[in-house]
Amino acid sequence: MSDLSAVILAAGLGTRMKSSLPKVLHPIAGRPLIEYPVRAALALGAERVVVVTSGHPQIDELLAKVFGDRVVTVRQDPPRGTGDAARVGVERVETAHVLILCGDTPLVGTEELEAVVAASREAELAVGVAELPEPHGYGRVLTAADGRVLEIREQKDLRSDAERAVRLVNAGIYAGSTAKVRAALTGLTPNNAQNEYYLTDIVATLGATGRVVAARGPAAALVGVNDRSQLVEAEELLFAAIRARLGREGVAVRGDARIDASVTVARDAEIEAGVRLRGATSVGEGAFIDVGCVIVDSTIAARALLKPYSIVTASRVGEGAQIGPFAHLRPDSEIEADAHIGNFVETKKTRVRRGAKANHLSYLGDGDIGEGANVGAGTIFCNYDGFQKHRTVIGAGAFIGSDSQIVAPVTVGKGAFVASGTSVTEDVPDDALAIGRARQINKAGRGAQLRERLSASAREAKAAAAKKSG
Ligand code: UD1
Ligand code: MG
Repeated sequence: MSDLSAVILAAGLGTRMKSSLPKVLHPIAGRPLIEYPVRAALALGAERVVVVTSGHPQIDELLAKVFGDRVVTVRQDPPRGTGDAARVGVERVETAHVLILCGDTPLVGTEELEAVVAASREAELAVGVAELPEPHGYGRVLTAADGRVLEIREQKDLRSDAERAVRLVNAGIYAGSTAKVRAALTGLTPNNAQNEYYLTDIVATLGATGRVVAARGPAAALVGVNDRSQLVEAEELLFAAIRARLGREGVAVRGDARIDASVTVARDAEIEAGVRLRGATSVGEGAFIDVGCVIVDSTIAARALLKPYSIVTASRVGEGAQIGPFAHLRPDSEIEADAHIGNFVETKKTRVRRGAKANHLSYLGDGDIGEGANVGAGTIFCNYDGFQKHRTVIGAGAFIGSDSQIVAPVTVGKGAFVASGTSVTEDVPDDALAIGRARQINKAGRGAQLRERLSASAREAKAAAAKKSG
């Protein structure tokens, strides 16, 4: 649709958010609010998207970074109403047709926009509308008997109970010929209860000489974000929509799993209840993410199994690898194919190569664990000396006995054994056995003697206590 540009109204103060962050930068399902209308307009094929802002540099930076030069921003300062904002935006439009929408209604999708644009092809102007059981607060759409739109009247300007009872409301989406919209916007006056320039007034202007039509859309798409509770409400609706989309794409998403809009999940994957997938995360074909996992900015390869309550941040999990339950992969962990990281194991900046295993209760920071190596329960990589971090290298096929401390920097060679309870402070050559613990001695009969002595002293203590209290 190269004859179409979009103008997104995103100025205004957003004071009801009670936040130091501009409203349209608040994240919702993992993306700043403003990205939703921009993406919807671009997906519709808009040649250019003009975003009207209050001039906040962070908004310009974000839009330039994410969308490049298909999106431009223009400043409206001070905010004098939606009509003034639209006028400022439409000045930057060069195409014959224009679409105008709001920056704070993230549930308005390409489909709803498309319906308004299509309706506008047969009229001077088309307006997106929806029927709401509770229309309070919205502009009411007043229509003629033949369905033409005569006027939109704001809540504060309603004149009668009959008008207040109108349930058809303005969704804040408009499309029409750029020249006609521009002319109508130029003629606006702020003669209303709020002393603002109302974009909605162009309906009456264009309706007087031509046809203004309504394009009906779903009421749920109307949820606008003005405060935090509406933000959460809109976000829950987005999560539900993402679950439904993934369901159609061959992914089973159970219960209340919350998956950001930025996440990709391949078919045959299963996502259990209570899972949170955030940011730049991707989940491969047939992977299983069990209850309560939180995965942020990470890549989970095909057929990986994440057992319940595992936390993965900025890391990679290879094909068929098994993680958890209760594992914690901190940034820059790379768990290769078929490796296992078990319960209460924490990794950080550590590569666990193909088929290696660390199944229980370990801290593995700043390490490189060779293919097929086995790291026993309770192993700690002592990576920090209070000033610097140091690396641990474990060779392929090595075996680290339980409760060992590996004091970095140190290398355990290929195929080497480290005996349980060893503190490794020096490199271990390939195929060597390292033992670093006190030698055990057994003293015959001394266990029985000890038991006798301890029970006798317990009896005496009890007798003394009884004498004192009686
Ligand atoms: C507006 C409509 C109302 C409709 C409702 C749908 C008008 C006069 N009213 O009301 O009929 O039912 O949307 O949600 O248009 N903005 C600017 N500059 C300004 C003022 C607003 O850019 O000077 C932007 C806001 O950032 C927001 C959008 O325009 O994204 C809508 O403004 P808002 O104040 O929320 O209008 P409503 O009162 O909700
Ligand atoms: Mg609003």
